[in-house]
Amino acid sequence: MATINENFLKLQAGYLFPEVSRRARAYQEENPGAKIISLGIGDVTQPLPPVIIEAMKKAVDDMASADTFHGYGPEQGYDFLIDAIIENDYNSRGVDLDRSEVFVSDGAKCDTSNILDIFGLDNVVAITDPSYPVYVDSNVIAGRTGEANEKGQFEKIVYMPCTAENDFIPELPSSPVDIIYLCFPNNPTGAVATKEVLSKWIEFARERKAVILFDAAYEAFITKPDIPHSIYEVDGAKDVAIEFRSFSKTAGFTGVRCAFAVVPKQLKAAGPDGKSVGVNPLWSRRHSTKFNGASYVSQAGAAAVYTPEGKKQTRRIIDIYMSNANLIRGSLAKLGYEVYGGVNAPYIWLKTLDGMSSWNFFDRVLQNANIVGTPGAGFGPAGQGYFRLTAFATEANVKEAMERFSGV
Ligand code: MLT
Repeated sequence: MATINENFLKLQAGYLFPEVSRRARAYQEENPGAKIISLGIGDVTQPLPPVIIEAMKKAVDDMASADTFHGYGPEQGYDFLIDAIIENDYNSRGVDLDRSEVFVSDGAKCDTSNILDIFGLDNVVAITDPSYPVYVDSNVIAGRTGEANEKGQFEKIVYMPCTAENDFIPELPSSPVDIIYLCFPNNPTGAVATKEVLSKWIEFARERKAVILFDAAYEAFITKPDIPHSIYEVDGAKDVAIEFRSFSKTAGFTGVRCAFAVVPKQLKAAGPDGKSVGVNPLWSRRHSTKFNGASYVSQAGAAAVYTPEGKKQTRRIIDIYMSNANLIRGSLAKLGYEVYGGVNAPYIWLKTLDGMSSWNFFDRVLQNANIVGTPGAGFGPAGQGYFRLTAFATEANVKEAMERFSGV
């Protein structure tokens, strides 16, 4: 009989967001008249900007004619997109990259998980707590952890608590670690890292010969001018960091799928004999073996994000979401909630009422206000007692949700 990867059995519950949806659906079935507003999963609601639609339509037309048809593309992405990424996201911020250092993919979720393929199982992984659940779950599935304890923390993972006490910025680990997941602007807390904070992490990683997996999926939501958008804006980062970016939230691509990872050529990790091995060729090899590239149509749409009109149109949408974030923050603060995030990130992180557990508060908000949020505990044990709201809803829904919140 075939056997399973028993690491799956270590996972404590279903993946967070389907679980949130399941509970919301169950409530809806029991209360068919309830007009539920979802501020749960961070899924965009604004339609794609016209310039992207036009570029994608043109790409579809290309597919209809033998001379412009595209079959398999380069697994690492088309140069027309890679060049636009390098020029607009990196050169413009003083970072030089080679085409071979950018890998286009179908999502940062997959990338932050798949990257683990190229690292040994004996690496000790440090993960912020709370964090995007993919980081922990993927390491569990890969077999890099032991079992979970009663708090839900997996053996062998080094958890780095991020709470109001440390402004949601993790302390440097005091025990040895090899791989470090950092996400700024942070999902779920909305915290951002200054250059000083990132410098400290880069120095730490350089000393320990550790690798930082830097998830920058929300960089487009940064509003403060002095906050770095890329970890490579900080000296030394190319020696230690892989960066993940996505068009999902930046340009409304959650249903289109396009993202990219940057793996600098100078980044090294130890081979079995202790000698340094370049990480970039391994990721390229992994990409070529397990991935056939993001679709031509998605990449054509993504390239349109970087045109002058594309920049304007995507900015307009980001501004709508950030105005929602501002409204959520302000309304909740007025109601007396302790509120974080929402200034440089599309997520608002709040303390539950009366010290309630995150899931109890989820039920209370759903029952009393018919609003779905995401329980902080779903992002890790240190998220217990917190709750996350997303700003990705429509303006009208956010307004209505904030009126209803007074009844929670
Ligand atoms: C979230 O709600 O945390 C994210 O949108 C989920 C995702 O990007 O996969």
